[in-house]
Amino acid sequence: MSPFLLTRTLPEDTTGAALRADVLTGLTRVPKELPPRWFYDARGSELFEEITRLPEYYPTRAEREILIREAPGIAALTGARTLVELGSGSSEKTRHLLDALPGLESYVPVDVSESALRGAAGALLEERPGLRIHALIADFTALTELPDSPGPRLLVFLGGTIGNLLPAERARFLRGVRRLVDPGDALLLGTDLVKDEETLVRAYDDAAGVTADFNRNVLRVLARELGADADLADFDHVALWDRENEWIEMRLRARTAVTVKIPELNLVVPFEAGEELRTEVSAKFRREGVRRELAGAGWEPAEWWTDTEGRFALSLARAV
Ligand code: AVJ
Repeated sequence: MSPFLLTRTLPEDTTGAALRADVLTGLTRVPKELPPRWFYDARGSELFEEITRLPEYYPTRAEREILIREAPGIAALTGARTLVELGSGSSEKTRHLLDALPGLESYVPVDVSESALRGAAGALLEERPGLRIHALIADFTALTELPDSPGPRLLVFLGGTIGNLLPAERARFLRGVRRLVDPGDALLLGTDLVKDEETLVRAYDDAAGVTADFNRNVLRVLARELGADADLADFDHVALWDRENEWIEMRLRARTAVTVKIPELNLVVPFEAGEELRTEVSAKFRREGVRRELAGAGWEPAEWWTDTEGRFALSLARAV
């Protein structure tokens, strides 16, 4: 019996093709935009890990507080035999859940990063030698089926990453993951919450400049993958709170008029002085909105937990 199975649901070159398509569409439209997915090469993933340790970036600590406190309850309420984690990364946070689920037989981490999946699985197998790990290299927004695994299943999507999706994309995503499971299976969803503007903006514009570096990292990815000649020093990091949409936006703002050449796409991208490229939306939520979005996608909200300061929430919902 093989204790670790790795299934690739993305063809080897999907990443390259998707990047090209996103760059071609996003940098030729007005206003310019790129999806946040392209931050996360090895360096970007490290920078994000560094962000999670910054004093200003509270979501990771707030979510961990809830997970540690509620893991036994989540285990009792779900009785999960299979844990599916979307965007599992290092599987660090999941540790608390895995430890609280003694009846767990199967763990299905889903991530676009094969190296992250291999690293996480290796570490876990040493601690839980009996656990069956079936890792999926996949984009969590495009997942259409899960490997055979015993129910009840608990699907988890942590970190507030659902906030990277726009409202229509979230609806589609929540309906899509609902179709992956059976009635009675559960979803544990992490959402950052609406709060005062200063706290929010600081979390995305830290004093040490790590988030600025993370934001500019997308330009390094474009340089390496597509030969783009963007000079990182030509762009300012911008984080702003959109109070209408209740989301944070990160943008890269051209300091002067600049032209970015992207030879692999035969593309020349002119920026006017001050012109911005949107690199990320990070939506913040309210309890009522989360309830509505879950219910609208076939998930019955069951529990709502926040950290003691009320900054971040975990929702538990059941597939109906
Ligand atoms: C990993 C998507 C949850 O939106 O807060 C951190 C990414 N961007 N700082 C977030 C991020 C800027 C993060 N998520």
